[in-house]
Amino acid sequence: MTSPELSPEAIRELGRWVADFVADYLSTLGEQPIASEDVTPRRVRALLAEPLPRQPQGVAAALEDFQTKIAAPSVRVGHPRFLAWMRTSPLAGAVFAEALAAALNQSVAVWQGAPAATEAERLVLRWLLDLSGYAPDAEGILTSGGSMANFVGLLLARQAAFPEVRVHGVRSLPKVAFYLSPETHYSAVKAIEMMGFGKDAVRCVPTDHARRMHPPSLRRAIRQDRRDGVYPVAAVATLGTTATGACDPIDEIAAVCAEEGVWLHVDGAYGGLAASIPTAAPCARGLAKADSFTVDPHKTLFVPFEAGAIFTRHQGLLPATFGTHTAYLPNAEDEGFHFRDYGPQLSRNFRALKIYLILKIYGADAILQTWERLHHLAAQFAAQIEAADDFQLLAPASMGIVAFRYTPPGMDEEALNALNKALVPVLQRRGEAFLSLTHLGETEALRACFISYRTTEDDLPRLLDAVRAAAREVQG
Ligand SMILES: Cc1ncc(COP(=O)(O)O)c(C=O)c1O
Repeated sequence: MTSPELSPEAIRELGRWVADFVADYLSTLGEQPIASEDVTPRRVRALLAEPLPRQPQGVAAALEDFQTKIAAPSVRVGHPRFLAWMRTSPLAGAVFAEALAAALNQSVAVWQGAPAATEAERLVLRWLLDLSGYAPDAEGILTSGGSMANFVGLLLARQAAFPEVRVHGVRSLPKVAFYLSPETHYSAVKAIEMMGFGKDAVRCVPTDHARRMHPPSLRRAIRQDRRDGVYPVAAVATLGTTATGACDPIDEIAAVCAEEGVWLHVDGAYGGLAASIPTAAPCARGLAKADSFTVDPHKTLFVPFEAGAIFTRHQGLLPATFGTHTAYLPNAEDEGFHFRDYGPQLSRNFRALKIYLILKIYGADAILQTWERLHHLAAQFAAQIEAADDFQLLAPASMGIVAFRYTPPGMDEEALNALNKALVPVLQRRGEAFLSLTHLGETEALRACFISYRTTEDDLPRLLDAVRAAAREVQG
């Protein structure tokens, strides 16, 4: 019987290759095209296609394939002008932390199998509470990201409302309702569906002129449901909406929820560190009153995917929702703290390590100051858009997000929508700048999310020029 492992010297050589690759890749990101016209689904599939390798091809050949078939056609996330969706530039310290976590291969599920990783996750969760300003004694768990954190948050709401649901299931429950806004991330709707309630349970609470949930409308919707015999379970407020970075008035929403006996989940997947960023701190007012709270380190702390977090100030509710007794694993009454009782997963990777290491290597202040700079940069970009004759700002810059559109003269609304929608894929293919598309009501909007610490003032005019060039290509 042979072992597939490499010799220590070969491992060292592999590591050196990886270190060189990471250093070159990250330090030259800004000089590379973000994407390429040649990268089409058909070509990438063809490039990668090969039968199952039954015999070893060796490290050098495998790495060569990695470089030419995987790295080369990859989108340069982390490029200074990659501002689409919410994809950050990973810090090198966090990139290597992934390798270290993999080497230890701790499954952070039961304390006995992962003593230091379990305590490191608990420590990192406390640090996230410090940074976010959420209830300091809250309990939490790291998740794959914001979608899973929101799912857990809404499961907690269901558990709090119906403590017997784990026994009798959703069929035993009355009709229920959840209160979102048109700006709430779609993962909340997905969570409601996954809980077995269906879209019928979603109430879309109107927003004000700044796309923030309107608390009096929330109260009205809750009361209407009660009159109709529907059980209002939870409201979701967002700290930094996906489309425009708007912040729902958490303090006022918390007051409505408290008066009406409704759970408040705050989705701070993107804006969850607002309390520690002077430019955004007012948005976090009232956050500590939320019943549960999501924040994503893979959006806010410049660590690579995947890392989200969910917290609740209701002690004991996470284990009440997820705790199970098994004969084959340590249980709650056994020594140690078992994350398997705090979330849906058993095997869980050591996500905390990348957060632990980057906070120690770079320090929280450097990260928070970077966010302040990015928020200023977004405001500067919004000012340049307002000053340009051929662009229109569609929402105030908020939390580093700018929604705008290209508006050459002489086009009606329909033509502007068609042009802005059509130019985004062209822009993305051209590789000079990478933005995403969003809808604001009936309007097709371009969206820039300043989430890369590499972006500087020099990139701003280049972003606008890249949009103009893509539009010219669309217009022929
Ligand atoms: C406000 C908000 N919540 C939740 C999510 C989902 O997070 P994830 O992609 O980590 O699942 C996003 C993603 O962009 C988001 O913007």
